Amino acid sequence: MLRTPSAEPPPPHALPASDPIHEVAARLEAISVAGDRWLRGYGRSKVRADQLYPAALPLIPPGETVLDLGCGIGLLGLLLEARGLHNDTLGIEWDPAKAQFGQRLANGNVRTRIVCGDLFQVPWPPCTVVAVLDVLHYLPAERQRDLLFRIGAHLPVGGRLLLRAMDSQSRGMAILTRFAEWVAVGCRWNLAPGVHWRPLADLRADLAAAGFRLLAVPGTPGSMAGNQLLLCEKTVGTGHEPDASA
Ligand SMILES: C[S@@+](CC[C@H](N)C(=O)[O-])C[C@H]1O[C@@H](n2cnc3c(N)ncnc32)[C@H](O)[C@@H]1O
Repeated sequence: MLRTPSAEPPPPHALPASDPIHEVAARLEAISVAGDRWLRGYGRSKVRADQLYPAALPLIPPGETVLDLGCGIGLLGLLLEARGLHNDTLGIEWDPAKAQFGQRLANGNVRTRIVCGDLFQVPWPPCTVVAVLDVLHYLPAERQRDLLFRIGAHLPVGGRLLLRAMDSQSRGMAILTRFAEWVAVGCRWNLAPGVHWRPLADLRADLAAAGFRLLAVPGTPGSMAGNQLLLCEKTVGTGHEPDASA
């Protein structure tokens, strides 16, 4: 059963004294560009400006293993490693340029790995947290549902899915966000066959069917230019998990 918001908010996991965002930004400053000037610039502005990361890090408990689907250049894993609370992260990214830049960026880190491939094809290791951040809309509705069911089947009860998704019903800044993404996909900055925005209500229904309940996200601004950060907890099996890798 889906509950919004939960009566029992998850404990926040405060950032330690050294600031992971500052640390990862410094790592981006220090990396040689080697033809990746655009990716470095993108990473620098994203890690500093996107409200996603300060909101998401406290939702990932210390020591949990994380699977980051469609990880881009792998910022989440790097931030978790910089946080120093013993999280191992495997990111899967099918854009070779981003995956290779992310691997270069993570070079020397022991807890952050990036594999280049399709998130439906690369085998998923056991994990207790799955992150799907700004990725779902690349898939048609049926495929989105398949992915949520597959994640539901993969996570143990109590495992977390961190999802950032756009509500197709949002107006204002959200219209600009959708337009920017449409351009990013059109010029192949983000590799995807197309974009498929859906109402948040439909997504919530799919999450419930896949065995998730929504937890409250403490202190989150709720909407990030139309994007919503959802913290979902795996509750029970659904009894009919479709095989999304087929
Ligand atoms: C908007 S970016 C977000 C990146 C990252 N999650 C973040 O928040 O920084 C979405 C990423 O998903 C990747 N992606 C889309 N479909 C994918 C798939 N089927 N398998 C692996 N990566 C995929 C795209 O290449 C793109 O880098």
